[in-house]
Amino acid sequence: RIAGPSSLVIFGVTGDLARKKLMPAIYDLANRGLLPAGFSLVGFARRDWEHQDFGELVHDSVKEHARTPFKESVWNRLAEGIRFVQGTFDDDDAFDRLAQTVRDLDAERGTGGNTAFYLSIPPGAFPVVTKQLARSGLANADEKTWRRVVIEKPFGHDLKSAEELNAIVNDVFPEESVFRIDHYLGKETVQNILALRFANQLFEPIWNANYVDHVQITMAEDIGLGGRAGYYDGIGAARDVIQNHLLQLLAFTAMEEPLSFDPRALRAEKIKVLSGTKPLGPLSKTTARGQYAGGWQGGTKVPGLLQEEGFAKDSKTETYAAVTLEVQSRRWAGVPFYLRTGKRLGRRVTEIAVVFKRAPHLPFDSTSTEELGQNALVIRVQPDEGITLRFGSKVPGTTMEVRDVTMDFGYGHAFTESSPEAYERLILDVLLGEPSLFPVNEEVELSWKILDPILEHWAKEGAPEQYAPGTWGPPSADEMLERTGRKWRRP
Ligand code: BG6
Repeated sequence: RIAGPSSLVIFGVTGDLARKKLMPAIYDLANRGLLPAGFSLVGFARRDWEHQDFGELVHDSVKEHARTPFKESVWNRLAEGIRFVQGTFDDDDAFDRLAQTVRDLDAERGTGGNTAFYLSIPPGAFPVVTKQLARSGLANADEKTWRRVVIEKPFGHDLKSAEELNAIVNDVFPEESVFRIDHYLGKETVQNILALRFANQLFEPIWNANYVDHVQITMAEDIGLGGRAGYYDGIGAARDVIQNHLLQLLAFTAMEEPLSFDPRALRAEKIKVLSGTKPLGPLSKTTARGQYAGGWQGGTKVPGLLQEEGFAKDSKTETYAAVTLEVQSRRWAGVPFYLRTGKRLGRRVTEIAVVFKRAPHLPFDSTSTEELGQNALVIRVQPDEGITLRFGSKVPGTTMEVRDVTMDFGYGHAFTESSPEAYERLILDVLLGEPSLFPVNEEVELSWKILDPILEHWAKEGAPEQYAPGTWGPPSADEMLERTGRKWRRP
């Protein structure tokens, strides 16, 4: 679907996210013909820039980061609608000028005044910007014109601050006009969890505590945090990605079938799962955290977190976090959900592994099944997107020996269609007013409620354990699973 007449205002255009993700995604949408004629992009920043300077920034970021090929004709059409408003967040005049720009764009380019405001700024600036949008009349929708606000995480740093933040935003924008971005929900492979589970008869009958032993959700990255101290120090891995991406993956994996993919129905099921999800204690044994040390990774010498520029020399910020959660429902009672994430790990991989119980009886000699593990269905979120099923098979030969084999589905082989980038899909949904893939305030607050006790527990402990770069995290993370007779997968 092509978006209707509209424009997008980005606050924080000089930031990394805007440059690497947002502006390229807008170009890709234009290239795919999904933006309306007259679509306009407005940048708001402190820099003393003309429209042209901002245009150059967009141009360079598109050239460097867009997914689709650069075409002069597409670029020229997009460039005609690029505007820049100079100002600071506390400058009333600047917001009045922005309001005038929005009116001008309607008159000149037929945007209908429909405007999405993308707050790609530190959360500390949300209150002043939302107040300015209210004061200048920019937040006011009417029957003919929509106004929407898009906010990036972190949505607070605990339950209390998230509630305060939601109150501030909801004071100005009604909840249906608030689009909270969790870019994991924009990923093809994440949406495919719903297709896998609910478009097939095969998996759902065994998708429960009777058959599932445990679930492992892994989001590993090989990169460090150089250049991100301002955002990350004091935040850490759990707040950065478990609170949002990983808990959303858990919700998609564990939820009941929604009545339809109507946004309300889908969110209601996610809310039900999140309401029933609790940390499994005692937390000293069921959680782990770590901080990467300096060392060698892939032949390169890399600094430890404490040597990265901008991090406090005694920073207790964790770069690795693992937690054990339980979904308290008939379907899942007793099944641990292990969530882990880390920076500077062995490789970049995100996956959900549903690990099944062993067969209740094995009519084989015990030596013939030594290489038989547990059946597992692994949803490979990224990279190498696809799904793997692991099961035991007879090893060819004259004896009955059984060994694990895998059956693979890969996007690259199965489809000729290309996947849009997560931000492309989500920005288009904002312009279309399609809210299904955006968490609502209640989901955000429930996610903090799950995490808060763990964060409080960690705050009372000392510094996180150090781990060597290029490994799979601190020893305590391995111990956490070994205690229950299980092991982390090595993707
Ligand atoms: C962001 C986190 O939300 O996701 C980053 O703030 C992380 O720390 C990033 O690197 C990873 O995103 P992706 O899409 O590359 O897995």
